[in-house]
Amino acid sequence: MSSWQKSDRGDAQDASSAPRVDGPRHVAIIMDGNGRWAQARGRPRLFGHHAGARRVREVVECCPALGVKYLTIFAFSTENWKRTQVEVAGLMSLFRRYIAKEMKALAAKNVRVRFIGDRVRLDAKLIQLMDALERETEANDGTHLTIALNYGGRDEVARATKRLAQDVAAGKLDPESVDEETLPRYLDTHVLPDPDLVIRTSGEARISNFLLWQSAYAEYEFIDTLWPDFTSEELARLCRNYGSRDRRFGAVKT
Ligand code: IPE
Ligand code: IPE
Ligand code: MG
Repeated sequence: MSSWQKSDRGDAQDASSAPRVDGPRHVAIIMDGNGRWAQARGRPRLFGHHAGARRVREVVECCPALGVKYLTIFAFSTENWKRTQVEVAGLMSLFRRYIAKEMKALAAKNVRVRFIGDRVRLDAKLIQLMDALERETEANDGTHLTIALNYGGRDEVARATKRLAQDVAAGKLDPESVDEETLPRYLDTHVLPDPDLVIRTSGEARISNFLLWQSAYAEYEFIDTLWPDFTSEELARLCRNYGSRDRRFGAVKT
């Protein structure tokens, strides 16, 4: 168990909501399958995205009982701009509405929200809402919800490397000192622990550019459920599975 896990274990909990001690502290989810869910109902893809967005609240709310302190969700990738203009515009509009609508509920539930990803391609109104939600929840110390929006692992590493190189050029960083601990300080996720468990819904067994650096030693679950059908019960089951896994981190048990 790493040091951040030890230090976070002492959270006051009443007996009924006491989290499992061997469950994942950081769960990251690739929320996939909205389009196929809609297609199966003869509806447009955006219908699936709306249904998917409605699933997020239940999943966030069940985290404290499962001992999940950090939840990171993949909402839009740097590659998703390749979709039709109608779908991209619909998703951006959905994100604006979701943030505005969920702002109060998340703040009241003691959820701290952060966004990761590159904001440059996002519209000004959306960025304003993202900033407001981060500000509104910054004093909260319950579940840390991180929303990956226009996020790509390779893009994140490239942006981090650029800033690191700028610090070297400015004489603020000695290149000889660069090691495994250096790059993560420049990543969007620099304040977060690495994910323990990465879940992908919809039956695809790939990571599609999600948390490349951070997931080096994550446990993975690829499940067939389409995201709009995902429930807190399924998350609880996956957390239990995680508890029975043997994480060796390259070492041999003695
Ligand atoms: C995931 O669902 C949501 C986003 C990528 C924005 P998809 O839209 O990828 O749904 P499928 O994979 O086509 O079913
Ligand atoms: C990954 O799903 C991105 C999100 C869930 C936001 P995609 O549907 O975009 O991934 P691919 O295209 O199947 O790899
Ligand atoms: Mg997909």
